[in-house]
Amino acid sequence: EDVGKGGYDHYMLKEIYEQPTALRQTIRGRIDTLNDDVILDSFPPGSFDEVTSVQFVACGTSYHAAVYAAGLLNESGVPAQAYLANEYGVSEPPIPENALVVGVSQSGETADTLEALRYADAVGARTLVVTNVVGSTAARECTDAMYIRAGPEIGVAATKTFTSQVASLALLGERLIRDVTGTPSRFSAELLDSLSRLPSDVQQTLDDSTADELAELFDGSDAYFFIGRGLGYPVALEGALKFKEISYEHAEGFAAGELKHGPLALVTPDTPVFAVFTGQHTEKMLNNVKEVQSRGAPVIAVVGDESEEVHRVADEVLTFPEAPAYASGIMANVQLQLVAYHAARRLGRPIDKPRNLAKSVTVE
Ligand code: G6P
Repeated sequence: EDVGKGGYDHYMLKEIYEQPTALRQTIRGRIDTLNDDVILDSFPPGSFDEVTSVQFVACGTSYHAAVYAAGLLNESGVPAQAYLANEYGVSEPPIPENALVVGVSQSGETADTLEALRYADAVGARTLVVTNVVGSTAARECTDAMYIRAGPEIGVAATKTFTSQVASLALLGERLIRDVTGTPSRFSAELLDSLSRLPSDVQQTLDDSTADELAELFDGSDAYFFIGRGLGYPVALEGALKFKEISYEHAEGFAAGELKHGPLALVTPDTPVFAVFTGQHTEKMLNNVKEVQSRGAPVIAVVGDESEEVHRVADEVLTFPEAPAYASGIMANVQLQLVAYHAARRLGRPIDKPRNLAKSVTVE
């Protein structure tokens, strides 16, 4: 088993460090930077001409990737909504005519996600799965499949597959935007350029990370909170999920704007708050930071390395190379993966196999 870990103490750490390679595989041959174009062999231009809206269904980490993707599409005028597959499956919402239902599932075997996709299929919707596993049940059953090409992931806590899912969904999203609206997204050139730089930017994020020291600094806290806005919101949710899954500590992710509607009651000097900055909504995020600081909570900003004002206001920072919001969220998430990992390692948790959790949940 140690051979498979390639010198790392855990599969999770190995997979965190594999992200630049996984990303290279995900985007290989799919971006034409010269012509500012997306090349998806299974989805040539016009593949989604009849689509008018998108519904995502997913669970766990994949749901957070779906929230991210829905945000990207909505920003470009394609109506999109992310649903937890287990809720979708029980509430069976109406599916608008010409809606595309996109399942996001690393394994392609999650029972809740399969159930949601089967419901969509039964009512006549076109279905597509974004998955890591060729030949998985979802890939066989859906009308279409897109593969994230991240390579096998052994650690129960998903890391590199989240990153590759988000990158894949951005590429698929760009194709959808072009087909549905008739024009490239307004951030198309920037998005494709930042995607092609992402493998090296993520490498730099990993190389420069001080997440280990930071985990030590806040060891023994009462709880750990994560806040974000826009594309930073799913990153906050994912940061908290990773942290609770493997450290067994209380961790929650909130939309930063929701703090004042309840979560602020939990904030004390013993609840560090990780604030995800993507370059969008910075002023509002800074107000939220001040809100929690005035209750005594230390704030760790996860932020681009050139954002001086944020660096000045935050108590601690975890940085990544300056990039557009879309790529910033991915790099912020890499930092939060490392924080969760080091916190769990300090506590001596069985990181690759957390109690009560399974890599793939094939029961409802
Ligand atoms: C389980 C795993 C999670 C994963 C979720 C969805 O709960 O522990 O890491 O995000 O299933 O899995 P999927 O294979 O559908 O992405």
